[in-house]
Amino acid sequence: MERVLSGIQPTGEIHLGNYLGALRHWVEMQDSFDAYYCVVDLHAITVPYEPAKLADRTISTVAQLLAVGLDPAKATLFVQSHVPAHTELQWLLNSVTQYGELRRMTQFKDKSQGQDAVSAGLFNYPILMAADILVYNADRVPVGDDQRQHLELARNIAQRFNQRFGDVFTVPDAAIPGVAARVMDLANPENKMSKSASSTQGIVGLLDPPKQVAKKIRSAVTDSGAEIAFDPAAKPGISNLLSINAAVTDRSVDDVVAEFDGQGYGHLKVATANATVAFLEPIQARYAALMDDPGAITAILSTGAKKASQQASEMVIRAKDAMGLLAG
Ligand code: TYM
Repeated sequence: MERVLSGIQPTGEIHLGNYLGALRHWVEMQDSFDAYYCVVDLHAITVPYEPAKLADRTISTVAQLLAVGLDPAKATLFVQSHVPAHTELQWLLNSVTQYGELRRMTQFKDKSQGQDAVSAGLFNYPILMAADILVYNADRVPVGDDQRQHLELARNIAQRFNQRFGDVFTVPDAAIPGVAARVMDLANPENKMSKSASSTQGIVGLLDPPKQVAKKIRSAVTDSGAEIAFDPAAKPGISNLLSINAAVTDRSVDDVVAEFDGQGYGHLKVATANATVAFLEPIQARYAALMDDPGAITAILSTGAKKASQQASEMVIRAKDAMGLLAG
């Protein structure tokens, strides 16, 4: 069985972009792959954050993952910092990653821009991400389009390691969806939906109250013109709504275009708002029930970390051995 790995940061506020670009596919893939999914708390500490909230946000993130349909009986669900093999492998991979490669990462450029104090962790972030993937010999990595460059680096690191030290790592393939790989901010459809946006006006959180969700979608900025057509370059606002509608009603974009063909933008907005609210309702109910029993969540994470550690520590031993380190 092929293996899949992916990760999400514990912001506690998963948005529709995360869900449509990645999580929806995590859920699909848990049925046909040996799936490993982690909450990447060590990545979250590379930028300023609130230590007192991190643990709660990690639990909340896991509860949201379970609420959207991840099943611990099918997928191994764990917290990155509970499996020390990730950081151990990262150190080894530091030595096969070039400074120039990291400097070219657009996410680093974006996140470091305008900051006085940029941590070394933010610079090395993509190496830890490569370690997350390679330490499980993952074949496929379901991510949104914004992670494409990081995935390419992980592939280069794996190939370089294998060339220098022998065939140790599987070179992973990115699994980037054809639709909704880049969900855009509703208020500013030229930018991707992102938790670091200056306003939450254009971001639909999975846990947002229904009225807020409906309002955000009904107020979505759309393009000039009146024709309902899927064309992300020329019509980013309408295309975004079409992708969201397709995803939450579980249809193809073509079917949604056919339904709204010849109708006004307003109609599409109202229908998408209603469909999204209806889609989120059972997720929010499951989330509330899961959060009533945080002990059950920590138990799932503890089982996940044990299983993940077994796999991951074997790979670290193989990597160290290939690199010529003295066995302990
Ligand atoms: P993160 O936490 O920012 O996002 C989690 C997933 O959501 C996707 N995503 C989007 N997809 C479509 N449209 C959007 N607007 C949108 N915003 C976010 C992301 O592409 C991602 O798949 N570095 C990663 C986490 C990570 C990881 C890994 C991923 C750490 N280690 C190993 C895969 C494998 C990140 O910060 O994702």
